[in-house]
Amino acid sequence: MPIPIARPTFDTAEEKAAQDVIRSGWILQGPQVADFEREFAAYVGAKEAVAVSSGTAALHLTLLAAGIGAGDSVICPSYSFIATANAIRHCGAEAVFIDIDPSTYNLDPKLLEPALRPDTKAVMAVHQVGFPAELDEIKAFCDKHGLLLIEDAACALGSRYKGEPIGRPHGLAACFSFHPRKIITTGDGGMVTTSSSELARRIRALRQHGILSAEEGYLEVGYNFRMTDLQAAVGRQQLKKLPDLLERRRLQAVRYIEAFLPWGLKPQLESPGVFSNYQSFQLRFPSGGTVSQQQVLRHLNSKGIAAQPGILPIHWQKFYASVKEYHLPQTDTARREVVMLPIYHSLSDDEQQFVIDSVLELVL
Ligand SMILES: Cc1ncc(COP(=O)(O)O)c(C=O)c1O
Repeated sequence: MPIPIARPTFDTAEEKAAQDVIRSGWILQGPQVADFEREFAAYVGAKEAVAVSSGTAALHLTLLAAGIGAGDSVICPSYSFIATANAIRHCGAEAVFIDIDPSTYNLDPKLLEPALRPDTKAVMAVHQVGFPAELDEIKAFCDKHGLLLIEDAACALGSRYKGEPIGRPHGLAACFSFHPRKIITTGDGGMVTTSSSELARRIRALRQHGILSAEEGYLEVGYNFRMTDLQAAVGRQQLKKLPDLLERRRLQAVRYIEAFLPWGLKPQLESPGVFSNYQSFQLRFPSGGTVSQQQVLRHLNSKGIAAQPGILPIHWQKFYASVKEYHLPQTDTARREVVMLPIYHSLSDDEQQFVIDSVLELVL
């Protein structure tokens, strides 16, 4: 039986929630979205949560509402999904890429200072594959230079940094995704959390053509980046499952780690203060070792296991590299050495054992 890299966890609760919305006759942004926002804000401990159509829309609208635009630059890692940089570009600003710390796969805070430019307005800290970035150091850098801190928390719902839930937020705002590869899903969908009522209000207007109420009318040129009530109703059921989803993924992560560490393999581990939701599981095969990443991928894929390579660096795309030549060796190496293994709630113990055995039979 093929084993996918990820799979959503739905049952009759989501089916009934969607059915109820359909029967209600109101499927666009409405009461379900408002309830989902309230419940999500309560879960992460944020003052405000604003639901939108995707994680990309969450990033885009947050940057716009924060006043980032033409002539500005934003520092971010290249070891991220391309939407991180696209959102910056959509606002007319420039994404300035820095390298990652190979032990965290997140931006290396030591590299922030050298990347600082007169036009730098913000740092986009990505909590890659659910592992929180070094928020204290990044925040201290932002405060020192008067920069905004925006968290790309697309993968990180349920993760914690030094005991605090991601999304509280640590900077101006945190942006989540509900894409099916994430820990909870609404199909497509996203959420911004922030402590700023002013920012939340502007994002609420921007997501719906620039309008908040008929009395006030159109406040500015906006977008159609709304979440629907159908999506929100599913999201509310998913949020109820989150503790269980988290627990199972973390057990699966421990199982992978315990299977691989004794053989000298290099699974991604949590550093002190980091609590990950293990949105993805990264296992590293350093160049020059007994087996290469490509051999592992070919072997697993031939057995129906949809393992994938590390994240495709954004600066490898010609429309980003043309801006500037980047030297990001840790990012390049991670792409070439990492294998992502299946991890999701319904991955059975037997299936996980098959993945483990398939890796080990090649390596040992
Ligand atoms: C780090 C990161 N940022 C942004 C996004 C964009 O989210 P979405 O697909 O919901 O637009 C994703 C995932 O899809 C992601 O992994």
